[in-house]
Amino acid sequence: MTIKTELVQPLFIRVYHWSFAAAIVVLLYTALYTHYPVNILGFVDMGNIKKAKYMASYIALFLLLARLYYGIITRDIGHIIFNRQDLKDLPGFFKFYFFLARREPPHAKYNPGQKLIFTSWIWVFFFSAITGFILYDHQRFEWLIPFFGGLQYLRFLHYLVFLYFLATTILHVYQAGTEDPAKLQAMFTGHMRRKETP
Ligand code: HEM
Repeated sequence: MTIKTELVQPLFIRVYHWSFAAAIVVLLYTALYTHYPVNILGFVDMGNIKKAKYMASYIALFLLLARLYYGIITRDIGHIIFNRQDLKDLPGFFKFYFFLARREPPHAKYNPGQKLIFTSWIWVFFFSAITGFILYDHQRFEWLIPFFGGLQYLRFLHYLVFLYFLATTILHVYQAGTEDPAKLQAMFTGHMRRKETP
């Protein structure tokens, strides 16, 4: 039996992952503070929170666009985009996660559940950026507000999107922490060790 080391998470993905994760954590914290200003850190005020929120959104937007560009030029975009085959494989994945099947069905780099979350994040992030921009300068974008049913609905939708991100981020971290430790390690080192029998 030989042990082979395989590169599963290239440097770009690792740098992207941890920077995107940090930007999203800042975004979630600042969004929570904007909604319910309880100062647990002690040194922040609404002005700084808003600056941090705008900065984190621009950074996350830039990183997401860079990830999509990288995915297209290296043709790895299929790893994160949920497709028809993933839809067919989804029931088997749920059976495994709800302890109704012993083995996880075979899948490519990410399982269909992870792909569903990653793909939804792309759409949800753009929706959140658009609604956020409109809310930020709602006088200039006044003509767009009726499409969302009014300013209050727009605020509510922007808040719902925040809740979705919060819930799915917790789910993702739980999954990453309870699944295969080798996969978690690969998000730091890039490599995974695989046993091979001749
Ligand atoms: C402590 C926090 C986190 C840990 C331990 C973690 C861990 C991981 C691991 C292990 C994977 C690879 C899964 C696999 O190989 O099956 C992954 C992928 C991914 N994670 Fe996280 N993650 C964390 C936070 C976040 C956050 C906050 C976000 C953003 C909302 C995020 C977004 C992603 C994305 C988009 C991928 C797919 C990477 C790609 O583009 O190929 N992660 N994460």
